[in-house]
Amino acid sequence: MNLNIGVIKGDGIGPEIVAEAMKVLDQVAKIYGHTCDYTQLLMGGASIDVHGVPLTDETVAAAKSCDAVLMGSIGGDAKTSPWYQLEPSKRPEAGLLRIRKELNLFANLRPAILYDELKGACPLKEEITEGGFDMMIMRELTGGLYFGERKTVEEHGVMTAYDSLTYNENEIRRIAKRGFDIAMKRRKKVTSVDKANVLDSSRLWRKVVEEVAAEYPEVTLEHMLVDNCAMQLVKNPKQFDVILTENMFGDILSDEASMVTGSIGMLASASLNETKFGLYEPSGGSAPDIAGKGIANPIATILSAAMMLRFSFDLDKEADAVERAVAKVLAEGYRTIDIMSEGKKQVGTEKMGDLIAGSIR
Ligand code: IPM
Ligand code: MG
Repeated sequence: MNLNIGVIKGDGIGPEIVAEAMKVLDQVAKIYGHTCDYTQLLMGGASIDVHGVPLTDETVAAAKSCDAVLMGSIGGDAKTSPWYQLEPSKRPEAGLLRIRKELNLFANLRPAILYDELKGACPLKEEITEGGFDMMIMRELTGGLYFGERKTVEEHGVMTAYDSLTYNENEIRRIAKRGFDIAMKRRKKVTSVDKANVLDSSRLWRKVVEEVAAEYPEVTLEHMLVDNCAMQLVKNPKQFDVILTENMFGDILSDEASMVTGSIGMLASASLNETKFGLYEPSGGSAPDIAGKGIANPIATILSAAMMLRFSFDLDKEADAVERAVAKVLAEGYRTIDIMSEGKKQVGTEKMGDLIAGSIR
């Protein structure tokens, strides 16, 4: 099969971690008899430097013509980078938000798994993590506060900022269905997270999720308030299977979930629309402080590439092979600095990519 893949290397550690994911994909292609065609796409700061904007119409069109897009990370240091002198709509993050919206990538899947081998990097007590955990955060990605109207105005001599949080029932229904579909393939439990004790948008969320749940009698649904969920993630992460939530809550909870797995450098993600197309990126940021040092953890990007093989190309065997290779290299004791613990072998970005590519069977 020919895999037509768009590649957004992006900023900061982006180019380094994407290079390792491509190395692994090339090895998978070689062993399993596929070919990878890569189209380089500029987004974020890298695009601002060339085109003056974080995403051009041409890049959107080029991304649409690919079967899937693999992305590193975008953005720089907000204090020192000239990108942040630009107005908000021209900054690197605006490119990411626009591509999510343009490609209708409403379903963001962020699996948070505690690998047995990484228990040492997990900040939680052993009695909490005993037996590991494996949850899927389903984050709505094209609605809510991120895309509501916003403005900053002076009212009666007082600067006032507005961000509006809007959801319609269709937006809620389609992400809820995805969440339940995924739960059916897992442990059949959905925890829908909202703030229904305060927000109207959450009350509608709850109502629509309950309607969808009625179509999935095998799946157990529970509702949880977002503040409680933040607490439960560190108190008892094992209770979660699928966490279904809106855009902003999902942004925050997925960072928290990544930390309890040991490192944000381990957390993959897939952003999907109604078709097979997806944008695959590590959940972490561009980490400008360590960019160019060759120490970033490429595993989240490599695992995102595995999700791409699974969701966009239906290549389950190949995706399994990548995930097995990651587990093997971890079991052999290799670690990047972010997940390093005593007695393990510390390696850099490139070496980690080599080891994983070399373990593809
Ligand atoms: C993420 C990131 C983005 C988000 C930023 C870079 C706009 O934090 O993918 O979680 O908030 O969605
Ligand atoms: Mg985030």
